[in-house]
Amino acid sequence: MRVLDRGEQLRKELDAARAAGRRVGLVPTMGALHEGHASLIRRSAAECDLTAVTVFVNPLQFGPSEDFATYPRDLEADVEVAGTAGAGVLFAPSAEEMYPQRPTVTVTVAGEDVMEGAARPGHFDGVATVVAKLFNLAGPCRAYFGEKDWQQLRVVRRLAADLSFPVEVVACPTVREDDGLALSSRNVRLSEEERRAATVLYRALSAGVAARLAGERDPQTVRRIMADTVAGEPLAALDYAEVLPDRLLVAARVGRVRLIDNTRVRV
Ligand code: PAJ
Repeated sequence: MRVLDRGEQLRKELDAARAAGRRVGLVPTMGALHEGHASLIRRSAAECDLTAVTVFVNPLQFGPSEDFATYPRDLEADVEVAGTAGAGVLFAPSAEEMYPQRPTVTVTVAGEDVMEGAARPGHFDGVATVVAKLFNLAGPCRAYFGEKDWQQLRVVRRLAADLSFPVEVVACPTVREDDGLALSSRNVRLSEEERRAATVLYRALSAGVAARLAGERDPQTVRRIMADTVAGEPLAALDYAEVLPDRLLVAARVGRVRLIDNTRVRV
């Protein structure tokens, strides 16, 4: 696997691959790679001829009181995980490489000021801006994103469509621990006790799904059931529980770590 830190190198490498008739897959990440990321990389490696993983903790998508400084970083381990999962290129640029100057031209996302958009003002603008840069550097490709970040996936699909990127966005299922906790780079920051409490997000989603399967149609009632489940966990504080026609979503703080999760529900 080739490890690159210059945008121009990534562009040249992927252009050369396409010129040789190879299909390119892109897996954007912020590193601290885990089995969830690895599942995206394996899917890309299975469907494409060359997979490029990007590792960049994007300052633009973190709010001033968020965990940018303490976000886990371990490039050596990431090289190992990405290579083992089948990546041919790992692009890990510095902040100076991605943003040599403070950008005055950025992407603005409208209509997503709910859930994560409400809880994290400016977050999706930051995500859309960095993903637009990565799409431009990578060129025509299939790009793999996790359903774990369901609203982000929705934003990225609109980014690709609205700005005509030659990118096919591929959604991948959420990878979970045996007890249901969705894998997340932030899980390593949970204490042992908090780690046990963190299963409350999955328990809340499961309670919501069970209510729907039992015939409960009222979204407010399903939402209340999810919120009550989180309220029953002393170490957790609910941020939001949302019920969309075919999806349940939850966000909560466990100790100082903010976690999100979601699941599909049949209508
Ligand atoms: P990050 O949180 O590192 O996630 C990178 C990709 O892995 C995202 O598409 C995310 O949905 C996916 N992912 C994370 N946990 C997963 C799990 N348990 N199962 C399946 N997929 C999972 O999301 C970001 O980085 C950033 O916002 C980024 C898109 C890279 C822009 O900076």
